[in-house]
Amino acid sequence: MVNVFLFFLCVLSAASAVKILEMTSTSTAFQDDFARAGEAAEFIRQRIRLQPKIALVLGSGLGGFADELQDATIIPYAQIPHFPATSAEGHAGNLVVGKVGEVVVAAMQGRFHYYEGHSLLRVTFPVRVFSRLGIKAALFTNAAGGVNLQLKQGGLVVLRDHINLQGSNPLIGPNDERFGPRFSDMSEAYAKDFRALALEEGGRHGITICEGVYAAVTGPSYETPAEIRYLRTIGADTVGMSTVPEVIVARHCGIKVLAISCVTNMAAGILDQPITHAEVLETGARVRGQFVALLKSLVPRMAETLPS
Ligand code: HPA
Repeated sequence: MVNVFLFFLCVLSAASAVKILEMTSTSTAFQDDFARAGEAAEFIRQRIRLQPKIALVLGSGLGGFADELQDATIIPYAQIPHFPATSAEGHAGNLVVGKVGEVVVAAMQGRFHYYEGHSLLRVTFPVRVFSRLGIKAALFTNAAGGVNLQLKQGGLVVLRDHINLQGSNPLIGPNDERFGPRFSDMSEAYAKDFRALALEEGGRHGITICEGVYAAVTGPSYETPAEIRYLRTIGADTVGMSTVPEVIVARHCGIKVLAISCVTNMAAGILDQPITHAEVLETGARVRGQFVALLKSLVPRMAETLPS
């Protein structure tokens, strides 16, 4: 009887030892975000020949720019360790590494949104991968509703600042100092010199472009006319469902940021017509040529400001 008891005791302690080993090992289940982002970065590094200098995140209907990259390597998100799957229509779901002129960029053709049900940690995971890849600057693009009555459908707006109305912050939770400090400064989230370059290059191409404040909401429903009047009152020029969590994490990692909205539609209640995702995609497609021209000349100028 004593022997049987001792036998079960041995089996139980062996099982506990295995469990403890699992918990302390670097197995996927227990990796932290720094390690996960490092693993994804390493996977990407193995597949590319050149070190990317700038990350591009291409929003709804604006992913076409990635098709313009030279010497491109296309890596589907589904292959990258720990990358979430994308589901939003108008988002291809590829990381494309290639050249704009002489500048190597890593372009996300499609992003992850909070409204898809991803946590903000997952929404911003690619930005942490960029940081672990050694990337020091990022250009985010998005489709947005025009809140400011001066804006025109199809116009571009360089983000001067933002208002986070998503009700959360991707940095909530224990802070990992290897990425950045506990309290992140956001007083110049969008780099002044990048913004000036965007306006200058836009002007050179004869594009309708100005600066504005972007309000980030969760979606996925579009706003009500009353919400748009409220956004206008608090100082928003455009409204959209992305970008801000990624920008917060980019700044936390010390990545220099530029963001550009395409006003794909006038926000709710301004025109006497409903807002549809088809309209958002159509406008994106209509400005594609302008957008490509702008990014082609802007990216090399952004790169000139970075240490080599
Ligand atoms: N509201 C929120 N997000 C958007 C809009 C809008 O009107 N258009 C494109 N993305």
